[in-house]
Amino acid sequence: MSAEIIDGKALAAAFREQIAEEVNQFKSETNFVPHLTAVLVGDDPASAVYVRNKQRACEKAGIQSTLKRLPAETTEAELISIVEALNADPGVHGILVQLPLPKHVNETAILDVVHPLKDVDAFHPENVGLIVQGRPRYLPCTPYGIQQMILSTKMETAGKHAVILGRSEIVGKPMAMLLIQRGLGADATVTICHSRTQNLKEIVRTADIVIAAIGKPEFVTADMVKPGAVVIDVGINRVDDRLVGDVEFEGVKEVASAITPVPGGVGPMTIAMLLKNTLTAARIQSGSI
Ligand code: GUN
Repeated sequence: MSAEIIDGKALAAAFREQIAEEVNQFKSETNFVPHLTAVLVGDDPASAVYVRNKQRACEKAGIQSTLKRLPAETTEAELISIVEALNADPGVHGILVQLPLPKHVNETAILDVVHPLKDVDAFHPENVGLIVQGRPRYLPCTPYGIQQMILSTKMETAGKHAVILGRSEIVGKPMAMLLIQRGLGADATVTICHSRTQNLKEIVRTADIVIAAIGKPEFVTADMVKPGAVVIDVGINRVDDRLVGDVEFEGVKEVASAITPVPGGVGPMTIAMLLKNTLTAARIQSGSI
């Protein structure tokens, strides 16, 4: 039996439509226009595409969007001043510093400067702490989008074994935190595998939910997947001008019950959740929540 293909594009479009309605209502109630400023340092073409997609989605949802494009040589001190100026600007509700940053800039030093109320990526330690404690202010965009995709499959997650491949701050760690909380689309038993994990294949074979976020093209193969598992592919790898995920899609779709495609899976959902967080940021800063 071939797996259900989880259509991230269609799911994200439905979320974006709902968010656009909420933005409209918020604007008419408060006269505030939610405003996201993205900071893009350097000229990595993939990052430029991601930021453009985020901006377009904002505009379509009625959210004001500004791009600060900075040269690759921008220093850490300059970048900190730019973020501080955005923190102090009451007309900016969300700040997104696109990662990765150039090697000479310490990413943590920059992300720590973003004001926690404007941190729509949920990367600031205060926001991460709130997530860990199960009282999130903002939910991290990619893990939140993935949770919504898992919910869309109607699989009961309570008591299920979710195996996450990758321990990044953006996906792996916060994903684990969302899935172990109490509630809908959560209550799972979670294992995080990483580059030092022993018996990784055996562990993945026990998973009811597999989330691959390691940046290794087609790493997860059909022999590693338990029949009926839900498989979420966060990878975006360029191989010979072709985009492939961390999952060997053609093989795994014959074993899984549901699987996300690359592209058109997790990516669009990440953007939809960013819009949601930006609206929440504007609500908080307007005093309406
Ligand atoms: N680079 C890759 N994913 C992300 C993300 O979710 N947020 C930011 N700021 N940069 C990224």
